[in-house]
Amino acid sequence: MHDLKEFIRRRKNLMQVMGRESIAILPTAGEQVRNRDVLYPFRPDSNFLYLTGFWEPEAVLVLIPGRQHGEYVLFCREKNKTQEIWHGRRHGQEGVLEHYAVDDSFPIDDIDEILPGLMENKTRVFYTMGIHNNFDQRLMGWVNQLKQKVRMGVNAPGEFVALDHPLHEMRLFKSAYEIRMMKKAAAISCKAHKRLMQSTPAGLYEYQLEAEFIHECMHNGCRDSAYPSIVGGGENACILHYTENNMPLNDGDLVLVDAGGEYQGYASDITRTFPVNGKFSAEQKALYELVLEAQAAAIEMVYPGSHWNAPHEAAVKTITKGLVRLGLLKGRVDKLIKDAAYKPFYMHRTGHWLGLDVHDVGDYKVDGEWRMLEVGMVLTVEPGIYTGDNRKIPKKWRKIGIRIEDDVRVTRTGNEVLTAKAPKTIDEIEALMAAGVVLKKAVKKKAVVKK
Ligand code: GLY
Ligand code: MN
Ligand code: MN
Repeated sequence: MHDLKEFIRRRKNLMQVMGRESIAILPTAGEQVRNRDVLYPFRPDSNFLYLTGFWEPEAVLVLIPGRQHGEYVLFCREKNKTQEIWHGRRHGQEGVLEHYAVDDSFPIDDIDEILPGLMENKTRVFYTMGIHNNFDQRLMGWVNQLKQKVRMGVNAPGEFVALDHPLHEMRLFKSAYEIRMMKKAAAISCKAHKRLMQSTPAGLYEYQLEAEFIHECMHNGCRDSAYPSIVGGGENACILHYTENNMPLNDGDLVLVDAGGEYQGYASDITRTFPVNGKFSAEQKALYELVLEAQAAAIEMVYPGSHWNAPHEAAVKTITKGLVRLGLLKGRVDKLIKDAAYKPFYMHRTGHWLGLDVHDVGDYKVDGEWRMLEVGMVLTVEPGIYTGDNRKIPKKWRKIGIRIEDDVRVTRTGNEVLTAKAPKTIDEIEALMAAGVVLKKAVKKKAVVKK
């Protein structure tokens, strides 16, 4: 699936912005220790991945527009028989020249000797400052090394420019290839959410539902999740970033599942909330319908020429009106909105950019104003209502957390919901849950096998 042309085009675009007097230097992420001799699964830095498509650790991308021996230089690990027997395959210098359209490659262990030479007589360094502390220091060391050669006619770069801005602007607008990847991530994740609804999870632990989600994602081609799944039953759904997922799911509660697979580095980010026993109670239904209405109002505001905050404003208005209708807020809607009276129920914003990072890069404001939505942007739309232990409302309304989240792309004519296949109306969910016992059966079968 690695599309060389796509990556060549990205690097070319960036080099055009940089100009010939510049060099760009971008290390990938470092490997992180989990505990003694055990590492967390490696995930490349998203900027690095965007420009290279290369998944090995210990690599540094260097772009030198106009360089005769090649503009795209990659420092990466050398091939090494022993290391590869112990830790896995490496492309090595020849491998990246052959498979990644790299122009010139050097062993990562030689970077101190080679990189200063590549920086000679360049005036500007594009660099993501402040992310990799260690690397920042090494870069300053290389620059100082060059400064000492000034009497030999060598000029050291004097200008450091944040690479983030031009790169993040590029990443904000998704290409046709990226949309294909995001649609795949979305389709697989929708399937996984549907699988959870085809179960009757009462009595299971939250993490067992998480396991089913991951199972379905992996079976369909997502090697990883885009972020740790949130599976919150009952009042746990009111903890926005709940990831302990270690409590039993109780009959009568709702369960909120915020989970998405990652495909070729691209995230999906979906939340669905459904009843553990397959049937919404009256209060659950009323609040759920309200969140769904708010989400529809917000999605309607996603079109070219609308602005970043318009979906949020629509969601806030719908939720505030609805809470008044249900008697959970009292007062005039416009005054309640002005006073942010909805905040104890709805304390987060309605979305974020989505792409290689689940909370993807890109500015939300330009010159102090909310940014206009444009074709090619992808964002989430995710309103919610969380009653928690709010003492100002009758008891029957408390301990309910609901969020409905979809991934939406801005199109020429309006928008496209990439995650529409994950059911979200009450009728769809209840029908699906009444018909399906997939998970219960699967779990029972596994239990028998174990004995
Ligand atoms: N899954 C994190 C979020 O929805 O923003
Ligand atoms: Mn989410
Ligand atoms: Mn989200």
